[in-house]
Amino acid sequence: MAKNTLSFVCQNCGAAYNRWQGKCESCGEWNTLTEEDVTGATTMPVSIRSKRKGRQFALESLTGKSQDAPRLSSGMTELDRVTGGGFVRGSVLLVGGDPGIGKSTLLTQATSLLARAGHRAVYISGEEAVAQVRLRAERLGLADAPVQLAAETSVEDIVSTLSEGAVPRLIVIDSIQTMWTDTVESAPGTVTQVRASAQALIRFAKKSGAAIILVGHVTKDGQIAGPRVVEHMVDAVLSFEGEGSQQFRILRAVKNRFGPTDEIGVFEMTGLGLREVSNPSELFLSERDLGSPGTAVFAGIEGTRPVLVELQALVAPTSLGTPRRAVVGWDPSRLSMVLAVLEAHCGVKLSGHDVYLNVAGGLRIQEPAADLAAAAALVSSLVNATLPADAVYFGEISLSGAIRPVAQTSARLKEAAKLGFLRAVLPESARGEAGGDSGLSLNPVGGLTSLVAEIAARGSPGAAAQKSASPLPRSRRADF
Ligand code: TYD
Ligand code: MG
Repeated sequence: MAKNTLSFVCQNCGAAYNRWQGKCESCGEWNTLTEEDVTGATTMPVSIRSKRKGRQFALESLTGKSQDAPRLSSGMTELDRVTGGGFVRGSVLLVGGDPGIGKSTLLTQATSLLARAGHRAVYISGEEAVAQVRLRAERLGLADAPVQLAAETSVEDIVSTLSEGAVPRLIVIDSIQTMWTDTVESAPGTVTQVRASAQALIRFAKKSGAAIILVGHVTKDGQIAGPRVVEHMVDAVLSFEGEGSQQFRILRAVKNRFGPTDEIGVFEMTGLGLREVSNPSELFLSERDLGSPGTAVFAGIEGTRPVLVELQALVAPTSLGTPRRAVVGWDPSRLSMVLAVLEAHCGVKLSGHDVYLNVAGGLRIQEPAADLAAAAALVSSLVNATLPADAVYFGEISLSGAIRPVAQTSARLKEAAKLGFLRAVLPESARGEAGGDSGLSLNPVGGLTSLVAEIAARGSPGAAAQKSASPLPRSRRADF
């Protein structure tokens, strides 16, 4: 056994080295290695470890009666939706998010609601004093909830306190980076400490059956700080996101052993805490700018729920050698692909234009189904033609310029009809699936070329004349 137990551990990915170096070879980050005592990873003294004989345990068959995972509803529908129907007994959740996004607020509300419903709910704050947590609860109007509160950071003390009495149904640890355990020597917040503390808490959750929520800090580039290994150790990782300037907050399941991972919960931060938003489409469309070109409404699906959201595009002549491409809320490489298809198959020249694309409301879209709406918004901005305000768009664009069908056509159409839209621009091949009962007039498109021609035809003649070097080919310019 090596005498020297000191090691250099990358604070970003947890890789260990036996000498210091500037760059972590595992994750490529610079200056992330710090010296840590890693003996704590195995907590037992060597003398005991070598003498201890393995305990025999019973092996079971797959067909045995498995205890189904009993779930505990949090009392917040949006939170339950993301966890997959409530907290599972003995499970551990990691909630990550930028500082100030509202993690503590969300979890104070959840514990208070559970406590009010008669469950034992515990909130351990390692960051704030008890008085500060109380102040927040007062502000939220939840001061009367029988939550058990403590400001503690020692994992051993926490586990020993919570082992007494009835098993808590929910324990919130705010945050895991402030926790420390005696079994390792490193300072709180280091990879070894975070990992050992998380391990101890997870062990307690599995043994006692209590559900534990760990709050995790997020680094500049959006990763949950500390070792990625914590993400592998827990049952679910939820990410709480939002634009600083907006009130909307989106809770997204990044990993979930007990439920779907593409589900989102939508909240609004108000003076009285987080309010659940049960119909996000209404919220995302509430501040629509109807009269201006460059906006298209995308009928999307987030998890099991249809969500309508506005895509905004701005295409403007560039003053730079290399035009700018900026996108917020969507995949930049998908934008590049849509631009390439517009250029290659529809004759839309964009190499002399800056292109900006924004998803309204701070939502982040991952579906390729947004291609058609993005293309419509881009062309609309380019030719200065407003799109019909009562239309929704969805469909995937293939590299050949064809519009491919996407899943859940009827759910998208139903949501659009519910919100008062009158028509839908959708893939030709989805027409059959749409059926006739959606109440929308359908405008199927087979290829991107026909969509571009249609939008260009809506452009005002004045607008076309103003653009001295029109980016559309001559044949299409004649249209307007
Ligand atoms: P907090 O839950 O402390 O964030 P985190 O734990 O993720 O760091 O939320 C802090 C922000 O939320 C703070 O900027 C103020 C705002 N807030 C409200 O707008 N309304 C409220 O009722 C509360 C409690 C907080
Ligand atoms: Mg906090």
